[in-house]
Amino acid sequence: MTERVVLAYSGGLDTSVGIGWIAEATSAEVVAVAVDVGQGGEDLEVIRRRALDCGAVEAYIADAKEEFATEYCMPALAANALYMGSYPLVSALSRPLIVKHLVRAARQFGASTVAHGCTGKGNDQVRFEVSITSLGPDLKCLAPIRDLALTRDKAIDFAEKHNLPIDATKANPFSIDQNVWGRAVETGFLEDIWNGPTKDVYTYTDSPEFPPVADELVITFDAGVPVAIDGYPVTPLQAVQEMNRRAGAQGVGRIDIVEDRLVGIKSREVYEAPAAVALIAAHQELENVTVEREQARYKRLVEHRWAELVYDGQWFSPLKRSLDAFIDDTQRYVSGDIRMELHGGRAVVTGRRSDSGLYDFNLATYDTGDTFDQSAARGFIEIYGLPAKLAAARDAKFGNAPELGTQGGISA
Ligand code: ARG
Repeated sequence: MTERVVLAYSGGLDTSVGIGWIAEATSAEVVAVAVDVGQGGEDLEVIRRRALDCGAVEAYIADAKEEFATEYCMPALAANALYMGSYPLVSALSRPLIVKHLVRAARQFGASTVAHGCTGKGNDQVRFEVSITSLGPDLKCLAPIRDLALTRDKAIDFAEKHNLPIDATKANPFSIDQNVWGRAVETGFLEDIWNGPTKDVYTYTDSPEFPPVADELVITFDAGVPVAIDGYPVTPLQAVQEMNRRAGAQGVGRIDIVEDRLVGIKSREVYEAPAAVALIAAHQELENVTVEREQARYKRLVEHRWAELVYDGQWFSPLKRSLDAFIDDTQRYVSGDIRMELHGGRAVVTGRRSDSGLYDFNLATYDTGDTFDQSAARGFIEIYGLPAKLAAARDAKFGNAPELGTQGGISA
């Protein structure tokens, strides 16, 4: 029986050529797998047709937008996931989902190998192949660009020679990956890290420079998940789409960073993630109101690790699963409303209310109604500061008391 390869298919030049390229190099049959994670662009039916026209024996097409929003973006939101403090893991989140569909397709069509169009320099090859190890350990991996020397020039030649139905002349200077959680843009003149991004880099966001009037909205969360916007019920996908539209119009969520790849390279990437950035800001603030202090402090460490694991392709790893259990537990009371103003590139929380919050007006107030026993503070500080006091006395004894300096002070 002829071997079969399932190929993660985008409909673009590289993976379209990849179909025939793999078939020629391995004499296997190629099954194209296209997964819609909200990347927009062409209709799935058009992509299916093209895959078959390029020589695929079967095409597996999945609209996975809702699944992506619910099972990947929502956990990232619960984790306030920002790699290196700013990147909302756009591409890193979609890879494990795409792999799930690749493995499903491999089973359905009896394939022994999974192929993807990643280069040998990025994180995505790692994410694909490590995820495959978890979900289909018996499956082999193949990356035509990396393993079968499919360069861009060769791809263009191949497409022309075989009359493939793709426009190879429409060369985009950027490498772009996008989905509902955001958009990543790299290469071209952005590789000179002193060059500022030009207008044409952005499509999810309008320039924050001349914004329309401020947009105020209320996001309702239930156990960490946005369930309504301005009182209208939304699914996770609708919440993300609506926030992309509204925050995007205000230029919220533009990120330009040099990041540390898993393969050791520092690379420059420009991101647009209006919904992710605005929703994380809202969610973080609701957590400030509802999550107990020690749990919240510990959660920040867990969030940091969670983001690194997901960035590093460990979505299906045991540690990531354990951290998910922790994060899940912290979301029990993260319910309530956040009022937010979107304007000129910023998403700013202006109000919060929650029935499950820990904010106690009477404990916090400086006005009448104060129920906080200030007299208890004295004794608390005395005992809390005791270790520091003992250490300072020892320093003094050994002549190691901290320098006070001689600067400042006015004497008459
Ligand atoms: N650097 C990002 C990551 O590793 C995005 C990768 C894909 N980017 C791209 N422009 N094709 O998650």
